[in-house]
Amino acid sequence: MLRLAVLLLCGLKGFGSELCLEDGVPESQRKYIQDGAGIDIPIGIFESNWASSWLLNKLTEMLVQEVMGYHAKVDPRMGANGASCFYALPGCMDFDNKIVAEKQCGINETTLHISVDSWVGSYASAMDQFNKEFPRIASVDLGSMGYAGEESMYVSQAILNDAYGDSGLALDFYKSYNTTHHNPRKYFDSIHDVDLSELEMCNETDMSNPSRIGDYAKYSGDYDGVVSQADGTFVAKCTDNRWWYAPACRQNSSQCIPLFTSGNGWKLQALMQWSTAYGMPTAIALSKGYSTWMKHVKNHRALHYWWVPDSTFIDMLPEPLTFARHSATEWLEGDKKSGAKGSYVSKLVSHNLQAKAGRVREFVSNMNFELPEVQRLLLELDQLGSTYNVSCKWMKENRDGWGKKRGGSYIYIVFTSCLSLRKD
Ligand SMILES: *[C@@H]1O[C@H](CO)[C@@H](O)[C@H](O)[C@H]1NC(C)=O
Ligand SMILES: *[C@@H]1O[C@H](CO)[C@@H](O)[C@H](O)[C@H]1NC(C)=O
Ligand SMILES: *[C@@H]1O[C@H](CO)[C@@H](O)[C@H](O)[C@H]1NC(C)=O
Ligand SMILES: *[C@@H]1O[C@H](CO)[C@@H](O)[C@H](O)[C@H]1NC(C)=O
Ligand SMILES: *[C@@H]1O[C@H](CO)[C@@H](O)[C@H](O)[C@H]1NC(C)=O
Repeated sequence: MLRLAVLLLCGLKGFGSELCLEDGVPESQRKYIQDGAGIDIPIGIFESNWASSWLLNKLTEMLVQEVMGYHAKVDPRMGANGASCFYALPGCMDFDNKIVAEKQCGINETTLHISVDSWVGSYASAMDQFNKEFPRIASVDLGSMGYAGEESMYVSQAILNDAYGDSGLALDFYKSYNTTHHNPRKYFDSIHDVDLSELEMCNETDMSNPSRIGDYAKYSGDYDGVVSQADGTFVAKCTDNRWWYAPACRQNSSQCIPLFTSGNGWKLQALMQWSTAYGMPTAIALSKGYSTWMKHVKNHRALHYWWVPDSTFIDMLPEPLTFARHSATEWLEGDKKSGAKGSYVSKLVSHNLQAKAGRVREFVSNMNFELPEVQRLLLELDQLGSTYNVSCKWMKENRDGWGKKRGGSYIYIVFTSCLSLRKD
């Protein structure tokens, strides 16, 4: 009975097959916002090129469409890095351009209004500088997504379980790698099982970046692990131009544990400093390209760099290693031996969203997720293969979540009259 009453009150316009929620606002009833010239436009959503961004921006789009009743669209242009969003939302045309002057900012009104899962933490000073330079169009930071981005050294669940079951050794703790007390190496593969042709050459990566390696030498004091150049700078001392051996296994590389990173040397200096400061017997190499990196981590019993939320290795349920407590002062100076700190992931909206659709802005500002939940959704994304399907499942299963407290925070508190009626 109640259901019928609700349908009548809301004006039943047919359940469009494109709808996820059977009582969602159908496309024909959605509102547009207007640009400065009074022309109808959809709310533009900006995503970046990684899995958590695809998923959470899709979910935002669907909630704005079906629950808030606005036309909304994830823009086909994608941000390349954590800084792209705070250039794109103000309307900069070439938001990925490395040079601010060439980004073409402030020419046309922005068509992008929302970006969630914005990894701005590593770009705080660039964002601050841009916002001071363009105060009239600067994006608005609506606060944390509820989780932080975490980068560290990881070990797979299978290796963890083997070591703990075999000898009670906790390989997710840095002190377990002290070779005076333990033999962690026996739970890993040998570095000599890895095909050298699949590794980047040290002279072509951050292994030869004088600023990274100079800081490594300066703060670790490990001058045996570096080679001094004619100009006084340092590069890493590699074997076969591929592997860098940490002091704890430098005398005998058969005792080294392989540690894979990739890119140009993601987190390389910290990986080297941790290995040296805590006596870990690692050999570090860069896999050639993303897919080789995935293959190395999946096919070898090894340590590896990773970040969360992300789905690349999610099926292996890897755990980050715990290191000594983070020291912000040391990291600021360039000394990276303490543990890393989670970086800020925010919700950004355009300066004009308040005026154009204030309720939508309020909805975005209430969005809040916990890291394990995002990881669970990304695992589902791996299995279901579609951001639409994962988002739709979440929306159906979390109906109460839009209006109720979950984990102390509101996911969604602004109701349309239809939805608040339906809740009773
Ligand atoms: C700004 O908008 C106008 C009208 O939509 C368009 O013709 C022009 O190409 C845009 N400018 C840039 C730099 O894209
Ligand atoms: C790196 O070393 C290899 C072989 O040792 C050489 O062919 C290559 O040109 C070097 N690359 C750079 C950037 O120096
Ligand atoms: C190096 O370590 C391996 C494995 O522990 C061992 O079998 C070998 O004898 C060692 N080589 C030397 C020269 O100590
Ligand atoms: C490893 O353990 C030994 C013996 O307790 C200790 O002397 C040494 O400092 C430890 N190494 C590190 C890097 O903590
Ligand atoms: C999404 O779900 C629909 C309905 O269950 C299914 O037909 C479709 O294949 C799914 N899409 C993907 C990419 O898995």
